[in-house]
Amino acid sequence: MPKTASLKIDDQELELPIIVGSEGEKAVDVRKLRASTGYITFDEGFGNTGSCQSEITFINGEEGILRYRGYPIEQLADKSNFIDVAYLVIYGELPTADQRSAFSARLSAESDLTEDMVRFISGFPKSTHPMSVLAASMNGLGAYYPHLATNNHKHDLGHFDDAAAIAMAKVRTIAAHSYRVTRGLPLNSPRAEYGYAETFLHLMFSEPGQDYVPTPEVASAINLFLLLHAEHEQNCSTSTVRMVASAGANLFASASAGVSALWGPLHGGANQAVLEMLTAIHEAGDDGSKFIEAAKNGEARLMGFGHRVYKNHDPRAKIIKGSFDKALESLGIIDDPLLDIARNLEAAALSDDYFISRKLYPNVDFYSGLIMNALKIPVDMFTVMFAIGRMPGWVAQWHEVAANPKSKINRPRQIYVGPTPRDVPDSV
Ligand code: CMC
Repeated sequence: MPKTASLKIDDQELELPIIVGSEGEKAVDVRKLRASTGYITFDEGFGNTGSCQSEITFINGEEGILRYRGYPIEQLADKSNFIDVAYLVIYGELPTADQRSAFSARLSAESDLTEDMVRFISGFPKSTHPMSVLAASMNGLGAYYPHLATNNHKHDLGHFDDAAAIAMAKVRTIAAHSYRVTRGLPLNSPRAEYGYAETFLHLMFSEPGQDYVPTPEVASAINLFLLLHAEHEQNCSTSTVRMVASAGANLFASASAGVSALWGPLHGGANQAVLEMLTAIHEAGDDGSKFIEAAKNGEARLMGFGHRVYKNHDPRAKIIKGSFDKALESLGIIDDPLLDIARNLEAAALSDDYFISRKLYPNVDFYSGLIMNALKIPVDMFTVMFAIGRMPGWVAQWHEVAANPKSKINRPRQIYVGPTPRDVPDSV
């Protein structure tokens, strides 16, 4: 394995170091390129750009591999739960029994919101999308916990555990409150005796005088959904979190920026977009075949298909699809026109050359939208659920930036293609 790559540019020859990761991934280190040659690299969309070295998640998109801290996602989905995985992602190791109970107790203790914060959330108009409430409120946490929200280029990590627990515990309460506020419903208080997923369901669906009691199947489907979304290396929202953290911004501000990035339909917003697409296909009286043709002609995008990194299969999609039929059976759902359309789309796309040649497979959002729908989670809450699941990943990635003494502000360059110098006319 060569230790350098040679680059001949104009009349200059340059040796660029090669960096090799623990799984054998290779990168050409171009950090000295501009200073040595005056050139920069150009990689719109960052498909070939490594923005950091990270110890958290490994993905091999060609082989459909996803590991958190070295553990395969399939084993984690089978043997652990969201809280264990959150601890693993944030702290690097699976918790011992003592660590698990201390972490859970801390999350329970931090679940409720202050009255001020409840008033803040209640002030949003009913028409607000819950993702908007979530982004604003995550950032707002800094106002309620100013000692945990200092902005400094040398991050103070002395209160990291508190800030991490607050972000993890309160994102779930804010999310559920955002749903109830936008429906004009009274808010519920967390229950210490419930687990993480059960608490979320209680906060969302309990009514005065009528507690929502989640079945184990529903709670375990939510738990699996959160676990599968816990972390996913340098995707759009996580890169955003790291970008904001690199400027010295606090955890809540950085996570809030992640929520905003996640909202986009090409990213976390895809699960909502999948359901909207299926509904529109159904309402148009199509069985999916016309929509497939429109997607092939570039007139539509098949939401829930394709991935920047996975070019074989999305391992999360495989796991969630595996639990899908079980969840539907336990919920007594046999016939659903949207499910039929989804199955037609999936079958057509998997056998059509347009999708095969572009390596477009169903991604996690294709099935998660359907499961959330079956669990009666409102469509505008799908992406909010993704954000709850992704919080451990954002917290861990923020910490990796904040704890790195060599961390630099993220500041890409550009190729300017605008007008060359010109004079302002005398009369404007
Ligand atoms: N439907 C139809 N055609 C598609 C699709 C799709 N969903 N995705 C990509 N293509 C085509 C695209 O038109 C292009 O065709 P051509 O080569 O003829 O120009 C080719 O496939 C490559 O597409 P791209 O847009 O260059 O690929 P990308 O890596 O930039 O985009 C993506 C990845 C996920 C944004 C894209 O596949 C997409 O928009 N999918 C639908 C949205 C979605 O489901 N997003 C959730 C991703 S998983 C959750 C997460 O991690 O955020």
